[in-house]
Amino acid sequence: MDNNNIPHLIEFPKIGKPELGFISVAEKANLPFVPKRIYWTYFTPEDVERGGHSHFDLHQILIAVSGKIEVTTELLDGQKETFILEKPNVGLFIPKMCWRTMKYTHNAVQMCIASNEYDENDYIRDYQIFLGAKL
Ligand code: TYD
Repeated sequence: MDNNNIPHLIEFPKIGKPELGFISVAEKANLPFVPKRIYWTYFTPEDVERGGHSHFDLHQILIAVSGKIEVTTELLDGQKETFILEKPNVGLFIPKMCWRTMKYTHNAVQMCIASNEYDENDYIRDYQIFLGAKL
């Protein structure tokens, strides 16, 4: 089933064992798109909510490589979900045209694997405009 238009968790390989530590890897074989950008966010105060936007064309995968992130997602059909990211080998796929918010524990480091380079024109930052957008 093609689920690349709905938010969903992706489990990446976890190579290793507790006595030695682990390696997780994202590569062509286990990614739903070819990445063009990776960025990371950190030191977000716990009372700050980030996100609050959608993208016209960008797909993203968010990974809590450290700490815990609560992500809410909303699609244009009204489908809303909340995801807790707290495993470094699990990512959340967020498709284009999906409103999202994120809250972080202070130690959270969020890595984002993105399908395109940064383009402010790809953002919808007004919730009412998002709701009025056509699929
Ligand atoms: P934004 O994507 O709104 O962050 P978040 O979704 O975490 O709330 O970006 C915040 C600011 O950082 C905004 O002014 C644009 C800038 N930015 C870049 O310059 N390049 C990037 O790759 C990203 C993701 C953001």
